[in-house]
Amino acid sequence: MKLGVNVDHVATVREARGVADPDPVEAARICIDAGCNSIVCHLREDRRHIKDDDLWRLREVVGTCLNLEMAIAKDIVEIACKARPDQATLVPEKRAELTTEGGLDVVKHAGKIAGVIRRFNEKKIRTSLFIDPSRAQIVASKKAGASIVELHTGEYANARTGPARLKELDKIRKAAEYAISKGLEVNAGHGLNYANVRDVAAIKGINELNIGHSIIARAVIVGMRQAVEEMIGLIR
Ligand code: PXP
Repeated sequence: MKLGVNVDHVATVREARGVADPDPVEAARICIDAGCNSIVCHLREDRRHIKDDDLWRLREVVGTCLNLEMAIAKDIVEIACKARPDQATLVPEKRAELTTEGGLDVVKHAGKIAGVIRRFNEKKIRTSLFIDPSRAQIVASKKAGASIVELHTGEYANARTGPARLKELDKIRKAAEYAISKGLEVNAGHGLNYANVRDVAAIKGINELNIGHSIIARAVIVGMRQAVEEMIGLIR
């Protein structure tokens, strides 16, 4: 199973000061060097973390697979067509949300999504649809022409009790099986961390897990000693 690392929150820390550091592109280089299979970034309409310039620079350095998460907004579609990521993952986007809430409603927005997929096919950009683990969304994704679906693992990650967690895990397992039977490639992600990733990683047939916040959060902690020691060395 592959790993895609989402570097958005490196840019979130940068934007807290409006300066140049930390650079998501430098982080992406380290992620690739560490063995991840793809780099994910979300160019949001509000540009709260990743900026257009980050996307261009990522396009230059990511030779493995650059996966651009994006809303089906006209101007973002235009940018994607110019930047030519290897993959685009269509997600719903609400301005006030802290992170992507829920999957894309492919049943409701079928026509619009199919149009974007056609444009991306012309540009040789593979399209993934970020959906809730439901049969109706899988059927609609296939019909819209997607080659990949990313199953939303947020409900699983947020489940408070053991039985609720198992129920959500089972939904993901069944949805993965069903999507694969329809000829779709299956990825999964959202809310996965060092405590809950194993059970999802054990689901057969899932191609890639996309993980962001927990990896960036862990990097801050495991990198703290070195950062402090370097600063003390300079002061001395
Ligand atoms: N996959 C998709 C489609 C997402 O929108 C996100 C959040 O940007 C992720 C994966 C990663 O989620 P997290 O940051 O919780 O690991």
